Amino acid sequence: MAKPKCLLVLYKGHEHAKQESRLVGCLENELGLQPNSTVDKELEEAEIVITTPFFPAYITRERIAKAKNLKICITAGVGSDHVDLNAANERKITVVEVTGSNVVSVAEHVVMTMLVLVRNFVPAHEQAVKGGWDIAGVAKDTYDLEDKVVATVGCGRIGYRVLERLVPFNPKKLLYYDYQDLPKQAVDKINQVSKIYNDNDDIIERVEDLKTMLSKADVVTINCPLHESSRGLFNKELISHMKDGAWLVNTARGAICVDKDVAEAVNSGKLKGYGGDVWPVQPAPDDAPWRSFQNPFSKGGNAMTPHVSGTSLDAQTRYAKGVENILKSFFEKTNDYRPEDIIVINGDYSTKAYGRNPKFWSKIRIV
Ligand code: NAI
Repeated sequence: MAKPKCLLVLYKGHEHAKQESRLVGCLENELGLQPNSTVDKELEEAEIVITTPFFPAYITRERIAKAKNLKICITAGVGSDHVDLNAANERKITVVEVTGSNVVSVAEHVVMTMLVLVRNFVPAHEQAVKGGWDIAGVAKDTYDLEDKVVATVGCGRIGYRVLERLVPFNPKKLLYYDYQDLPKQAVDKINQVSKIYNDNDDIIERVEDLKTMLSKADVVTINCPLHESSRGLFNKELISHMKDGAWLVNTARGAICVDKDVAEAVNSGKLKGYGGDVWPVQPAPDDAPWRSFQNPFSKGGNAMTPHVSGTSLDAQTRYAKGVENILKSFFEKTNDYRPEDIIVINGDYSTKAYGRNPKFWSKIRIV
C-alpha cells in the first residue's frame, strides 16, 4: 500500500530551535514528526495538512481544488479559519484542531495585554531602556484595572478564562456577548469568587446587544472565532459605539477587526489603545498599520506582538500531543476524534463556535 503523504506547515525557529528542543511548533523541530516540504509543490499529493495558526498555510478554495488527495486538515492549536471551511465541506475534507490546548496561554496573554495598556507600560518601558525619567509623561495616562467594566465578545473557553482571571482585580462589572448563555455553574463560580475577593457577588452579566455592551465597557476583549459574521466586525462604525478612551484587546483573529479603522481610532485618540497578537494576514507585512499606531496623548497604546500568545512551550506540548492523537485516529481509520476537536466533518459543520450550527448553541462547553 502506498504511504499517505502528509504536509506539515510551521514557523521558522532559526537559532532558537537549537537552543530549546521543546520548541516543537517550528519548522526545524517539526512537532517531532519530521516531514520536509513546501506548500504548493507538495499539497497536490498530500492527504493530510498540518499547520499552526501562528504561521499558517492558508488552505484556500483554490488550493483545495488542486489538492486532489486531501482528506484531513489538522490545526496544531486552536482556530481553523485559515482553511476555507465551506470548500472543505464541499469536498468532505475533515478539519480538526486541538481544542483547549492553548486556551490558558491565550487567556494569560489577554490579561497581560490589558495591564500593558491600562498601566501604560510601553512608554514607561521605553524610558527604562532608552534613557529618561519622565514620570508625569507616563502617569498622565496610567490607570488601574480595578473598578473598570470589562467586556468579552465571545465567551467560550478563552473568553471565560479571561473573565475568571480578572476577578481578583476587582473590576466593576464583567460583561459578555455570545450566542449562548454560559452554564449556570460557570456564572456561579465567578460570582462566588468575586464575593470572596470583593464582596460583590453579582459581577458577571450577559448582554444581548453588542453595541449596548460596547457603550458600557472600559476594556473590550475579542474571543470569538473568525467566520462570516465576525470578519471585519470591528470597523469604524462599530468602534464609534465604544466608550471614548476605551482599550481593545484582540487575540482571536486579526481579520475580526478592520486594521486601518483600529489604527485610526488609536491615532485619533478615540481609543486609548489596542493590543493583541493576531494580524489580518500572517506573517504581517513590514508596513502593516498595526506596527505603527500610537495614542497621541502619551505615545502609548500599542500592545501588539507577533502571534505568540497560544504557543508557549506548555501549549506546544499539549498541541503536539493532540496532533499525534488525531493522526493515530486517522491512520488507524478509527476516526474517533474528540468531538470538541472537530470543526467540519462529512460535509457539515460539527462545531457550535463558527456561527453555523444553532443546534449546538445551548450546549456551550468551556471545560
Ligand atoms: P470556543 O469555541 O471555546 O469559544 C468561542 C465562543 O465564541 C463560543 O462561545 C461561540 O459561541 C462564540 N462566538 C462565535 N461567534 C461569535 C460572534 N460573532 N459573537 C460573539 N460570540 C461568538 O473557542 P476558544 O477556545 O475560546 O477560542 C476562540 C478563538 O480564539 C479561536 O477560534 C481562535 O480564533 C482564537 N485563538 C487564538 C489563539 C492565539 O494564539 N492567539 C489561540 C487559540 C485560539
